[in-house]
Amino acid sequence: MNFHIMTLFPEMVTQGLETSILGRATEKKLITVDSVNIRDYTADLRHRKVDDYTYGGGAGMLMQAQPVYDCWKAVEARIHEKTTSPEKTRVIYVTPQGQVFNQHMAENFSKEEDLIFLCGHYEGVDERVLEEIVTDYVSIGDYVLTGGELPAMVMIDAISRLVPGVLNNDASAETESFHEDLLEYPQYSRPEEWMGRKVPDVLLSGDHAKVDAWRLEQSVERTRLRRPDLYEKWLAAHPPKPEKRKRRRKKESE
Ligand code: ADE
Repeated sequence: MNFHIMTLFPEMVTQGLETSILGRATEKKLITVDSVNIRDYTADLRHRKVDDYTYGGGAGMLMQAQPVYDCWKAVEARIHEKTTSPEKTRVIYVTPQGQVFNQHMAENFSKEEDLIFLCGHYEGVDERVLEEIVTDYVSIGDYVLTGGELPAMVMIDAISRLVPGVLNNDASAETESFHEDLLEYPQYSRPEEWMGRKVPDVLLSGDHAKVDAWRLEQSVERTRLRRPDLYEKWLAAHPPKPEKRKRRRKKESE
């Protein structure tokens, strides 16, 4: 999978993504990260300016349409050199005004061969170029950061780990948090007792069916307590069987 990041700070993104699991994934050519400096596409060769005041007044500067558009055209051309598909590559504009990113969106984006991220700075980007090139407006949460690089890195991390081979054990993507709208169950490693706290007996029993049942129960309970919004979604998709209904109702009233 190939990530193309349009940014004013390319080194921030490349350095941030070259370590640990993603660094290894890049070495193995499972992913590529291509950071492109928008400033290299400015028509203002003298001052290399990419921003200007906003029409109508107001504080701060705005990224201008021309350098962003020319940068995108260069990225698109590079992508099309190596594919025969006529389809336009998805362009994600990272912005607090976007749809809030989640695991389902990460799964959906991970199916693409190429993805382009546009990182804004200053007060944002001229609306006309956004209308022209952006396919997805995505936020990482209801707070405002100084630029789009960190949100792009967050999304690239979450998407990359779903690319086959990036995680050593593909099974872990199926048991982890948010799979089927549930949080992950608690986990334990050696020793069996630490500071007077014991590993639950069932995990030492060797009975895999019992372990699976215990883990599912823990996932459901943890989700109910910590993320009632997710629990409601899970419940809607998994209505309790009649005999379990009474038990679940009792728990919920506790
Ligand atoms: N740019 C600034 N803040 C952001 C956020 N919360 N999500 C995505 N992009 C942003």
